Amino acid sequence: MSTYSEWKMGPYAEKGIQCQNCHMPEEFGTPIVNPEVAKTEHTVTAHKFQGGHTQINITKAATLTQMLDKVDDSVSVVVYITNSEAGHFLPTGIPSRRVILTVNFWILKGG
Ligand code: HEC
Repeated sequence: MSTYSEWKMGPYAEKGIQCQNCHMPEEFGTPIVNPEVAKTEHTVTAHKFQGGHTQINITKAATLTQMLDKVDDSVSVVVYITNSEAGHFLPTGIPSRRVILTVNFWILKGG
């Protein structure tokens, strides 16, 4: 997998932002072991390893902008996808991963 190289040649490595900064953010009071046994009073790094399987990460990872152009009877739509917060390519990891963009378009009668 090329995730490390993607990160290394990107802007995040240059700024010193490590994998752990995004995938293991600091949380306060998160149980490290069974909360009935012990609960920490300190800040710990999350061990949930949030990645592409996390809705919030996927939502942050890409920014979409669209341009609509109507000329006479035809309409053209251009959608730009920007990798805004993934510290590497989007998607990354297993090569079979894909980003699927679904564009829904409605034309109102008389519009
Ligand atoms: C600036 C934040 C950031 C940094 C730094 C970062 N990542 Fe990510 N990572 C993300 C986001 C957002 C996603 C979700 C988008 C995706 O799945 O491609 C993600 C997804 C992933 C995935 C896919 C997870 C899955 O569910 O399949 C892997 C693997 C991964 N990162 C590994 C790394 C490694 C290894 C590093 C360091 C070499 C790193 N990441 C650095 C933000 C970051």
